[in-house]
Amino acid sequence: MMDDAVTLLSESPDTTKRIAMCVATHVRPGKVIALRGDLGAGKTCFVQGLARVLAREEDVHSPTFTIVNEYGDGPALYHIDLYRLNDAEAIRDLALEDVFDSPAIVAVEWAERAESMLPEKRVDITFEHVNQGRMITVRGHGALDGGWQKAIQERG
Ligand SMILES: Nc1ncnc2c1ncn2[C@@H]1O[C@H](COP(=O)(O)OP(=O)(O)O)[C@@H](O)[C@H]1O
Ligand SMILES: [Mg+2]
Repeated sequence: MMDDAVTLLSESPDTTKRIAMCVATHVRPGKVIALRGDLGAGKTCFVQGLARVLAREEDVHSPTFTIVNEYGDGPALYHIDLYRLNDAEAIRDLALEDVFDSPAIVAVEWAERAESMLPEKRVDITFEHVNQGRMITVRGHGALDGGWQKAIQERG
């Protein structure tokens, strides 16, 4: 569905965070946000924006040894980074379905490594390096509130 996708140029880490903050205010409860893009593309930067809104948390780094970090009450946000787990079996052993089924928002870096486990109704974010910064594409798949496209284009 073309209407369901918005592509934006982000010329700074701050803009990427602001786009994320907008996604955070429109994402429906319990949804998964799948983040895809090369190293340094801005996935963790995006999660920092999510955490600011969803968990009032400013100190967000990629989970290195833990794979899964939790932020806020409940927790409100799970942050998963599958970078170090390219082995399909190791990823299966994480039982990510349990996290995906939780009432929290779940942000997943390198989501393609858990592709078959991702719920259908999720938010997909892709990041591409371009000369002026990053191209960020947001796809809602029904996991974002109505009006998010306009809000995201007018943000900032
Ligand atoms: N428009 C932009 N959006 C996000 N990050 C950017 C942008 N421009 C430059 N950067 C830099 O790129 C790096 C992105 O790092 P990070 O978010 O950790 O990427 P990833 O998690 O995808 O590996 C940071 O050093 C950030 O300062
Ligand atoms: Mg990262």
